[in-house]
Amino acid sequence: MANMKQIAQMARVSIGTVSHVLNNSAGVREHLRRRVLQAVQTARYQPNQLARGLRRDKTDMIGMIIPDITNPFFPAVVRGAEDVAFSNSYRLILCNTDNDHSKELAHLNELHTYLPAGLIVIPSNFSDLTVQAERYRRAGTGVVCVDRLPKNWSGDSVTADNEQGAYDATRCLVKLGHTRLATITGPLHLTNAKERLSGFKRAMREVKLLLNPEYVQETTFDKRGGYLKTLTLLRLLPRPTAIFAGNDMIALGALLAIRELGLNCPKDVSLIGFDDLDLGETTDPSLSSVSQSGYQLGTRAASILLDRIQGDKSPAKHLVLETSLDLRNSVAPPPSGNRVTKPLKRRNRRDGQEIVHATS
Ligand code: RIB
Repeated sequence: MANMKQIAQMARVSIGTVSHVLNNSAGVREHLRRRVLQAVQTARYQPNQLARGLRRDKTDMIGMIIPDITNPFFPAVVRGAEDVAFSNSYRLILCNTDNDHSKELAHLNELHTYLPAGLIVIPSNFSDLTVQAERYRRAGTGVVCVDRLPKNWSGDSVTADNEQGAYDATRCLVKLGHTRLATITGPLHLTNAKERLSGFKRAMREVKLLLNPEYVQETTFDKRGGYLKTLTLLRLLPRPTAIFAGNDMIALGALLAIRELGLNCPKDVSLIGFDDLDLGETTDPSLSSVSQSGYQLGTRAASILLDRIQGDKSPAKHLVLETSLDLRNSVAPPPSGNRVTKPLKRRNRRDGQEIVHATS
């Protein structure tokens, strides 16, 4: 394969001119530029990105650290970031933390040595990443946090309006007539889970509804957590008639549990999730959810990063994207009469958990 020197010889220009043409870095007279491009095409020349990165102390790679690509929410975030990166000639390199802070630190420390142009992080938990981010910044590499924020974060960020989204969902349930509202939150060390709980509580406070502490259950942002915590909730007497789930994966687990208990959603229990994943359209009943655009989170984060790469030195940006409520078939007015307190019918076991089947 041809190298830069050979391209320069073919085009009868200096190596510097070839470099300027390839990097678009300085005005090169048009006829020379055309000669270089012609030589590049004839020789099918492809610059060695690693060598180029070493020369500039910076590659055209953007690092992205996320919790888990198998969680259906995150692919859209990645896709949004990658689309913006790609259309600006940057390539994305992806790392998963599994919400494990030590893995996150390993990625942060290692990625640095790949000389990325920028970094997008969905933090694994509420740990302080200031020291790590500072190291990137000193090397002229911007860092944008997305979806959740680490402790003491003062850099760029893009998040959804989690508080308002949860508030809207809860108000909707209240409007339908529910008074026994429960929530299953994500891990409360995560800023977004905490904000969603605050929105839920604000809506309850506003209408002066008492919140039974047992009606607030915390779990991981996944189906199993939702399933187990729903079993816990629906065993309580009086039983809650509506559940606001901290995300759609929790809500999917809740649907399973409701069904296993012989109850009906929404006749016995209304349910609203958060994220508005596509698969919520295909559940039975279809899932109502607070919609946040993962794709937008990704595109906005990558755009901020590109501005930084191009020299934007303005103060840190904190974008908060609006949410909306997507109502489908999982919500209805609360059941009338005392069905919710009828005696339990039979017991089963699944996943080591007691399952209580109640009459409806
Ligand atoms: O399912 C992933 C959840 O955690 C989403 O709600 C998202 O906001 C993330 O932080």
